[in-house]
Order: sequence, then C-alpha cells, then structure tokens
Amino acid sequence: MLAGAVDEKDPYTRGHSDRVTRYSLMIAKEMNLPLAFMEILQVSAQLHDVGKIGIEDHILKKPGSLTEEEFEVMKTHTTKGANILRPVTQLAEMLPGIELHHEALDGRGYPYGLKGDQIPLLARVIAVADTFDALTTNRPYQQAHTPDQALGIIKNLAGKRLDPAAVAALLAVYERGEIKIQRFTIKRPVLPPQPQATATAVPAATSAEPTTLERTRV
Ligand SMILES: [Fe+2]
Repeated sequence: MLAGAVDEKDPYTRGHSDRVTRYSLMIAKEMNLPLAFMEILQVSAQLHDVGKIGIEDHILKKPGSLTEEEFEVMKTHTTKGANILRPVTQLAEMLPGIELHHEALDGRGYPYGLKGDQIPLLARVIAVADTFDALTTNRPYQQAHTPDQALGIIKNLAGKRLDPAAVAALLAVYERGEIKIQRFTIKRPVLPPQPQATATAVPAATSAEPTTLERTRV
C-alpha cells in the first residue's frame, strides 16, 4: 500500500517498486541467497522509495535535471523512508535496503558515502535492480534505454558503483531470456493544421489532447 502511494504520487515511476522487487528477487535467486534473505528483500525492495512520499512534487516531478539544492532534497528520500518505517519493529531488517540503496561501492553514493562491504548485501542487490529499471524506463529527464544499452552501462558500473556479483546475476538472468520489459514510448500529439493549410488537409488532433502512452514490448 505504501509503495502504491509512491507510484500514485509520481506517475512517471508507476510500477517502479514492483519491477525493482521482481528484478531484485531474480538477482538474489541467481546468487543462491537463502529464502529468509529473499523474504526480507521482497519487502525492502517494494518499499525502497517510500521516502519519496515526503519529497515535494515540484522536485519529484520536475522535467529536466535537478539543481544541486533540489538534488540534495531528493537524496533525503532514503533517510526519510527509513524514518517513516523505523517505528514498525517488524520492518527493522528491511530498513538497510530502504536507507542505503543509493550507496555506491566506491563511496560516492548517498546518504552516508559508505564503501564496499560497509553497504549491506540487501542494499547492493536493490541498487542493481533499481539502476536497471531506472535506465529502461521513460523518465521526465530521460528516454528509456534498451535493455542491451542498460546492461552495457550497468556492466561498466560493476565494481565501481554496483556489486559485481549482483550485476553478473542480472546479466545471467537476462541472457536466459527471463526478463521481459514493457517499455512505454511517448506518442506526441499531432499539431493542429496551420491556418494556411489546404482544405484537403486531414484534421489532426488538437494540441490540447493529452500526450498518450503507447505500450510496446522490447
Ligand atoms: Fe531511490
């Protein structure tokens, strides 16, 4: 329900939590991680961006890149999420995935700049799944990459930002054809005919018509 609330607040990432959960579980299974870990991972991945509930819309939904100040605010979704859920004692083991999924092996992540093994495996698995989904989804600031392009970028990040074992697991799962991606391409409305257009011009949609999303498979 909480993850659904984030998707509602930020329609560009609708379904993001579900996909990150699915990819995270595939990665963990490929890594032969125990069932108890998978159960914690499932809930943690589903809730990893819950702190976005506390980020103002003008930042969360801003098209184009964020200013440095806005990015500093955006970064707080990690600690905000953990703080929202900290009172729920049953979720204590899930908190590292929520608070630390933007940490990077090289120490250049956030919120704390942790390095390597200082970052719990839970957060390292979610980070790979999260990066893959972010790259293969249309965002206000980016057209989706193809899965092959995304995996190329992710391979480059292995050992630098992302856990190499989790990256290798994602690649193995993808190469077996187990990841199907639904990609949404934005279909722009057709501009209305110009006044000087000939009478035979086919009437087009008005510019007031909303941009439609067309679902395609890749
Ligand atoms: Fe996040």
